Order: sequence, then C-alpha cells, then structure tokens
Amino acid sequence: MQRRKFLTALGALGVSGFARATDQVLPLLAQAAPRTRTPDVIFVPTPDDVVNKMLEMAAVTAKDVVYDLGCGDGRIVITAAQRYGARGVGIDIDQERIREATENVGRAKVADKVKFIQGDLFEADISEATVVTLYLLTELNLRLRPKLMKDLRPGTRVVSHAFAMGDWKPERTEFVNGSSVYLWRIPQRKG
Ligand SMILES: C[S@@+](CC[C@H](N)C(=O)[O-])C[C@H]1O[C@@H](n2cnc3c(N)ncnc32)[C@H](O)[C@@H]1O
Repeated sequence: MQRRKFLTALGALGVSGFARATDQVLPLLAQAAPRTRTPDVIFVPTPDDVVNKMLEMAAVTAKDVVYDLGCGDGRIVITAAQRYGARGVGIDIDQERIREATENVGRAKVADKVKFIQGDLFEADISEATVVTLYLLTELNLRLRPKLMKDLRPGTRVVSHAFAMGDWKPERTEFVNGSSVYLWRIPQRKG
C-alpha cells in the first residue's frame, strides 16, 4: 500500500521523471523495507530443564557463540550467557518475540553478551556459531540441514529439542521429562 502511494506521488513527476526516480529509488526502498512473512512454526518455549540439558549436551563454555534459530523469548541464549559466559545470538522472524527477548536480556543483565536479530533463519548469517540450538519441526530441520552443513565450521555442535534430522543420526540423544534432545556435530568436509 505504501509503495502504491509512493508510486502515485512519483507519477506526479511526469513519465520520464517517474521512470528515472523509480529506477533509482525502488532498489533502495526494497533494501530498507523489513521483510516479514508468517513464521514457519509458532512460539512454544523450551522448558528450563530442557534448555539446561541442551546446553549441557553441547558442552557450552565461555568460548562459545551460541545461535538459537527461532529464538522465541531468548531463553536459550540468555541461559548460555548467564550459566556459561557464552556469547549468544538469537534470530526470530517475529518482531514481538524479538521485543520480548530484548526485554528479557536486559532483566537478565547479560545484554553485553547477547544480541537478537529479527529475520528469517533460513537467510541468516550463522557462520560464526560454534553451537546452534533448534526447537522447530522435523520438516524445518530437514530444510535447514544443507545450510547447517554449508555455513557452519566442522566441529560445530547442533542441538535440537524434540525434532530429529532424518537420516543424519545424532551423536547423542537424551530424554528430559518426556522431551527428547538430540546432539549432532558438523562433520569434516569431504575432499
Ligand atoms: C517453537 S519456538 C522455539 C523458541 C525457542 N527457540 C525455545 O526453544 O524456547 C519457534 C520460534 O521460531 C520462530 N520462527 C518460525 N519461523 C521462523 C523463521 N523462518 N525464521 C526465524 N524464526 C522463525 C517463531 O517465531 C518461534 O518464536
């Protein structure tokens, strides 16, 4: 709608002015506009005992950079910073979740270690992660798997609450109060 109003205003410039202005301005507008789409899965928080198990299985330390893809209220990366002194990055497509996570990190007093980014996890730069945490769906894990393999360094730990990765067998599986937690490690690249 905003774009239509903008084009109407540009139309008032006349045909050649319109063409010149749209050529120059539209690419900038496209870059500036936040790209939002419906989340692939709704927000359901991981219970605290499962969060603790995920971080324990990944053997998180102060040297780690923990990425939670679809971070919800930020609890996983906040806990990683509080308990282990790790740096954390939470990515969520839902603006409301990012607002909530940002409030929570302020309360937890680890804002110097944790940041939140609104965006699509499938498009995010995750290359600096040493630990990736997930609570998505099996179908989303499978869609994400090629990106994990391509973008993450060998040895990076991936932990998932509840959902597996098809024929990529986990190195370890644990159960906490009826929830499963899976651990994988990004393998060395072939060739
Ligand atoms: C099941 S919740 C998990 C929240 C948190 N990781 C936890 O374990 O407590 C999934 C989250 O993924 C987010 N999400 C869904 N699709 C997404 C996408 N394509 N990119 C980024 N976040 C997404 C949702 O907004 C939601 O907050």
